[in-house]
Amino acid sequence: MADLITGQVLRFVADPFAVPPEEAAIHDAHGAILVEGGHVVAAGPVDAVAARAGAARRTDMGRALLLPGFVDAHMHYPQTGIIASWGKRLIDWLDTYTFPEEMRFEEPAYAAARAERTLDLALAHGTTTLASFCTIHSVSVDAFFSAAEARGMAVVAGKTCMDRNAPAGLTDTAESAFDASEALIEAWHGKGRARYAITPRFSPTSSREQLEALGALWAQHPDCLMQTHLSEQTDEIAWMHDLFPEARDYLDTYEAFGLLGERALYGHAIHLRPRERARLAETGAALVHCPTSNSFIGSGLFDMARARAEGLSVGLATDTGGGSSFSMLRTMAAAYEIGQLAGSALHPAQLLWLATEGSARALHMEGEIGTLAPGSAADLVALDLGATPAIAQRAARAESVWEEVFPTIMMGDDRAVAGVWVGGRRALG
Ligand code: GUN
Ligand code: ZN
Repeated sequence: MADLITGQVLRFVADPFAVPPEEAAIHDAHGAILVEGGHVVAAGPVDAVAARAGAARRTDMGRALLLPGFVDAHMHYPQTGIIASWGKRLIDWLDTYTFPEEMRFEEPAYAAARAERTLDLALAHGTTTLASFCTIHSVSVDAFFSAAEARGMAVVAGKTCMDRNAPAGLTDTAESAFDASEALIEAWHGKGRARYAITPRFSPTSSREQLEALGALWAQHPDCLMQTHLSEQTDEIAWMHDLFPEARDYLDTYEAFGLLGERALYGHAIHLRPRERARLAETGAALVHCPTSNSFIGSGLFDMARARAEGLSVGLATDTGGGSSFSMLRTMAAAYEIGQLAGSALHPAQLLWLATEGSARALHMEGEIGTLAPGSAADLVALDLGATPAIAQRAARAESVWEEVFPTIMMGDDRAVAGVWVGGRRALG
């Protein structure tokens, strides 16, 4: 049975960092999306789309804005329970809050409950795809992929590997990280909508032997992603240099072991040197901007406009629980504020694109998610652009869709999420 969903529709036809932002999208004030078999068949002006809808079931979302579901390109589902923990910077925050919580994921029932809670929170916030770190425990990976499968969600995840500088009970070895990750690739990569990311946590918690083993594993499974952290805090960079005195820079600790390539994802990547920027651009690897985390943990200002101008691929992410919100709307607002501090005002088109197609491209999933192009999975969100009185009174004065959506970007949260569809099935609203 086909579905016709009506509302305002915004469709990107170009990268808004490559063309004038307002020209990157087509806005249909009276728009519709036709969905069949879990996929988008057509999106555009309601008259044209409805003409193809036949006996489709109709869902009228009024003036809500229909977009691809949000794509959170870097988060840690095991940290859902410790989001908004006070007073620490990165290394102390890991030791005080994160590692004790991650130890609990040895227990399959606990991991399953946390995975389900996280995915339900994500859907409630309009996020339909997440790329998550798990813990060192394989059961934490099974829990996450199983919960996503039950919800029909396309997700990326991997076993977080650490063989030093982490508490006993939260470390593996070079060999066990290789073997366990390989078994998880066999079990999950490409199963339904699941994708595997080989996941060294960050170079300070991996020995050279472990990084080398994971580089070799990636070479054997080149269609997997590889996710890790890069240059988040200055103290962390100094620590990395103590541990790897031979490294030219932070990226070199990955590059030297085969952990740099087009399908690599580097969270944060704030304090980069010129050689790192050049290599990242050359290889097509993606950076993932985590703006609420970067201010919450006190990491620094990521310069989005500069990164995109240099040709770097960038996704957007909550970094839950270092990030302080599950909402990609709050995350866009934080990206805007950090952009202002770094010297450029990101356009609402750029923010929305980063939260959808930009993140999808970073994950190499742009054929499946992050767009309304025919053939994409029907993972959709409908945003109420007047969800609170404060937002509504500002949106009422808008003279363009950009002016109408920007108050929701800046002041919105899960209250703005009027509907969510995953693979064409209504998941919320
Ligand atoms: N660097 C290494 N591990 C982590 C983590 O869990 N969160 C953040 N924000 N940075 C990290
Ligand atoms: Zn992270």
